[in-house]
Amino acid sequence: MLSTLITITTLLALSNAQSWVPSGDLPVDFSLTFSAPEMVYDVCNRNFTQSARTISVATTNVAVTPGETANDPTAMTITGASSGDMFTILMVDPDTPSAEVGTTEKPLLHMLITNITNADPSTGAVLNAYGGPMPPPCSGDHTYHYLLLKQAAALSLTVDDLPGFTPDCTNPGLIGRCLFEVANFISSNQLTPVGYVTMVASTDGYVRYGYVNDRGMSEADSCRGLDGYDPCPTAPPGSSSEKVMVSMSAVMASAWCLIFSVIFVLN
Ligand SMILES: *[C@@H]1O[C@H](CO)[C@@H](O)[C@H](O)[C@H]1NC(C)=O
Ligand SMILES: *[C@@H]1O[C@H](CO)[C@@H](O)[C@H](O)[C@H]1NC(C)=O
Repeated sequence: MLSTLITITTLLALSNAQSWVPSGDLPVDFSLTFSAPEMVYDVCNRNFTQSARTISVATTNVAVTPGETANDPTAMTITGASSGDMFTILMVDPDTPSAEVGTTEKPLLHMLITNITNADPSTGAVLNAYGGPMPPPCSGDHTYHYLLLKQAAALSLTVDDLPGFTPDCTNPGLIGRCLFEVANFISSNQLTPVGYVTMVASTDGYVRYGYVNDRGMSEADSCRGLDGYDPCPTAPPGSSSEKVMVSMSAVMASAWCLIFSVIFVLN
């Protein structure tokens, strides 16, 4: 009885993870390298400094800052592939604070390159050029997922096909990117995940500077959470902390339903 309950709870918890996140040992090593310049961002009544460094994103959960990963990766490397393999690289953010931009299942698209040959990403067709992290103030940690997908054949996809994978996206500036149906994209293009890395970033000086100077956000909003400015709301709508709480309560609710039905059946 106890083991049944544990199994049910585990299954529920697992089913709550993004369905498109690859699991287990993947056969191909994929990594990205970023070269961060030394920078100073003068915003929010202070100077944010960024040191120069080279970052390798070769595992999951590599800690980076948006400023350090703002420019295109200096290298993307695929090792351990068979000759003749063709690949797609997909990068998404499921942690956007707005449900109109991205959700766990339908995240925001940040990069898409198809038809990669010779294990050389520069041979591919760029359908969505790399867009670096821009996690808004008070939206917590964002995990940026990179999937290396093996193609069954050359893909005839073009940029014009991308809106077909974002049917729920209504933001005119984000059609083809927001609420991107990753699972649908993978299955309808006969793709197989073979490599996977992630990097984690939260708001930094670069982001605050960019929101004030390039996106017209007020300084009060862009600087929220810093000393001298308003604190972050405790659980902003759609924030990852709120998402966790919502999904936890959903898991608990379904678990209790099942536990009661199991007890009922067993009795
Ligand atoms: C940031 O640094 C620059 C250059 O040193 C300086 O002119 C400016 O006053 C500083 N800004 C703040 C808010 O300290
Ligand atoms: C993908 O490769 C195929 C075969 O080489 C080609 O016909 C097609 O145009 C390519 N797609 C893109 C978007 O470049």
